[in-house]
Amino acid sequence: MSINVFEKRAFLVAVASVAVSLALIAYATWGMGINVPTCIPLGSKPFDQASVTRHEGKNYEVHFVARMWAFEPSVLRVPTGSTLDIYAVTKDVTHGFLIAGTNVNLMIVPGAVANSRVHFAKPGIYTIVCHEYCGRNHQNMNARIEVSDQIADYSVEGLPASEGMKLLDAKE
Ligand code: CUA
Repeated sequence: MSINVFEKRAFLVAVASVAVSLALIAYATWGMGINVPTCIPLGSKPFDQASVTRHEGKNYEVHFVARMWAFEPSVLRVPTGSTLDIYAVTKDVTHGFLIAGTNVNLMIVPGAVANSRVHFAKPGIYTIVCHEYCGRNHQNMNARIEVSDQIADYSVEGLPASEGMKLLDAKE
C-alpha cells in the first residue's frame, strides 16, 4: 500500500515544525541565555531562612522567603553587572515573584523551591511584586533590588533580627 503524496507532505511538514521548534528552544536556552524557571523539590535544597551568599566575582546566591505579606529580604542592593541565582520558598500560601524589567516570573508554591537566574547589566531599581493573590494585603506585597554603579558590595534590609541572618562568604 502506498502513502498518498499529500499525506506524505503533511507528515514532512509536521516533522519539520517539531524540529524547528526544538531548534528555537535550544537557541533561546544557549544562544540567548534565556533561563526557564525551574521548580526544585524542597528536599534537594531546603532552607527556611533568607540569605545572601557571595560567590566569585559579582555572582550572588539569594534565598528569598515569601510570607503573607512580605518578602525577605525586602531590599537587596548589588553592583551593576551582578548575576543573581534566585531561590525562593514560601512559609504559608502560594505567592508570585516577578522582577519588573527582567524576565524573572516565578510561582512560589508550598513544598518546592522556585529558582531562576537574572543578570543586571544596567543600574536601576527593580521592583519585585507578588502577582498571585494571597490574601488581604496581597497588593502591598513587594520588595526591590537596587542595582547601582556606586555599590561595591551587596547589602540587604528587611530580615527579622530574631531569625538572625546568614551572610556567607563562599569563595569558590
Ligand atoms: Cu503574596 Cu500575593
